[in-house]
Amino acid sequence: MADRKATLTVEGLDKPIELPIYSGTRGPDVIDVRGLGSEGLFTYDPGFMATSSCQSAITYIDGGKGMLLHRGYPIDQLAQNSDFVELCYLLMFGELPSKAEYTDFADRVTSHTMVHEQLANFFKGFRRDAHPMSIMCGVVGGLAAFYHDHLDITKQEDREISAIRLIAKMPTLAAMSHKYNVGQPFNYPRNDLNYAENFLYMMFSNPCEEYKINPVFAKAMDRIFMLHADHEQNASTSTVRLAGSTGANPFACISAGIAALWGPAHGGANEAVLNMLDEIGDESEENIQRFIDRAKDKDDPFKLMGFGHRVYRNFDPRAKVMKETCDEVLEQLGRADDPQLRIAKRLEQIALEDEYFIERKLYPNVDFYSGIILKAMGIPKNMFTVIFAVSRTIGWISHWHEMLSESYKIGRPRQLYVGHDKRDYPTD
Ligand code: SDX
Repeated sequence: MADRKATLTVEGLDKPIELPIYSGTRGPDVIDVRGLGSEGLFTYDPGFMATSSCQSAITYIDGGKGMLLHRGYPIDQLAQNSDFVELCYLLMFGELPSKAEYTDFADRVTSHTMVHEQLANFFKGFRRDAHPMSIMCGVVGGLAAFYHDHLDITKQEDREISAIRLIAKMPTLAAMSHKYNVGQPFNYPRNDLNYAENFLYMMFSNPCEEYKINPVFAKAMDRIFMLHADHEQNASTSTVRLAGSTGANPFACISAGIAALWGPAHGGANEAVLNMLDEIGDESEENIQRFIDRAKDKDDPFKLMGFGHRVYRNFDPRAKVMKETCDEVLEQLGRADDPQLRIAKRLEQIALEDEYFIERKLYPNVDFYSGIILKAMGIPKNMFTVIFAVSRTIGWISHWHEMLSESYKIGRPRQLYVGHDKRDYPTD
C-alpha cells in the first residue's frame, strides 16, 4: 500500500525518520506514524483532528464537497431509491442485496424483533421519568447477559446473528423505553409491519384503540433511519471500535456507543435543537438576532445547536435531505407554517449570511431539522437521540464486524505526561 514516504527530521536525532504514506480510494493520504514509537516519539492530536484510526470500506465523507457515500452510493440517491433495511444490508455486507437476499435479510430481522420477556424487568429499576437514553444504555448492555456464553466473536456467523439481533431489537427496546416513560403497557412487535411501521406501532399503539399506521410518518421515519445510519469514524463509532478492540461482548460495545452518542455535541444535538427553538420562542428578528449574537459570543456557552461539524466544511448532505423531508411532512400535515420551522429556517438564513459562521464554515448538520419532523410526528423530544441510536446501531455494528473480520490490535493511545516528576513518599 505504501508507494510514497514522508521524511521527518527531528532535532537531536542523528538521522531523519522515514514514514510510509498510504493512499485510499478517495480522501486524504495518510502517514503511517507507527514507526515513531521505536524512536521514542508519539504523535499528539487531542480530539483526533488529523488522525485516521483505521482503514475502512464502509462510508466515505468529503467534508469540502459535502459528500457522503455508503459503500460508494451517495446518501441522496439511497434516500430517494432505497429503504433502511436495504441500507442495513449494504452497510453490513458491502453490496446491495438481490430481491431474494433482501427478503431473506428482512425476514431474519423481523424474526428477531422480540426481546426476552425477562428484559421487561430491567425497566422497573428506572425512575418513571428516567431519560430514555439512560434506559437504553442499561437495557442494551443488559442484552449481553442473554447472548454471551455461546457467542464466539471470532466466527462470522456469530457476528452476523449478533448484528441481526441488535438491528431487530433496538426499535423494540426504544419503544419500550418510551412506553415506560408514559406509563403505558409495552407493545410486542408485529411481523406484518415493516421496520419503520413496526417502530411507530410499538411507540404509539395502546390497548384502548386501534392504531392506524400513517404512511407519511412511516416513510419519513424510514428516511430518518437512513440518514442517521452511519458516518465513518465519529465519536460513538470510534467508541464502539475501541470497546470492540478488547474483545468485549458486542451488545456491551453498542451500549458504549449509545452512551457516547448521548452528548449534545454529538447525537444529543437533535434534542438540543428543539430545546434551543423552545428557548428562542419568539420569532421576531431582534430576538433571533440576539441568539445568533450569543452563539458568536466567546463568553457565552450558547452554541447554535444543529450547526457546525468536525468534517463538513460545507452543507451536511443529510441536512439537505432532512430539510426536504421536513417540508414534505409538515406540508402533508397542513403545518407548512410551523412556527419552529420558520424560526429554524430564519436562523439558517441569517447564519449563512453572517461572517462568523461563513469564516468558520458552519452549516446546518443532520440534527438541525430532524427534531422538527419528529415533533410533528408526535415523538417526544427525549426520544430524538434514542431514534438516532436505533438508526446508528447498523453503523456501529458494521464497523465492529469489519474490524473483527480483519486482523486488529487493542486500541491503546498514549499521552503527553505533564504531571509531577518522580518524587518520594514523605516518611517523616
Ligand atoms: C453529529 O462526527 C460526526 O460525524 C457526527 C455526526 C454523525 O453522524 O455521527 O455527524 C452527528 O454529532 C453532528 C454534530 C451535532 N452537534 C451539534 O450540532 C452541536 C453544535 N456544534 C458544535 O458543538 C460543533 O460544531 C461540533 C461539536 C459539531 C464540532 O466541533 P469542532 O469540530 O471541535 O469545532 P470547534 O468546536 O472547534 O468549532 C470551531 C469554531 C469555534 O470557534 P473559534 O474558537 O474558532 O472562534 O466554530 C465555533 C467554535 O466556537 N463553533 C460554533 C458552533 N460550532 C462550532 N459556534 C457557534 N455555534 C456552533 N454550533
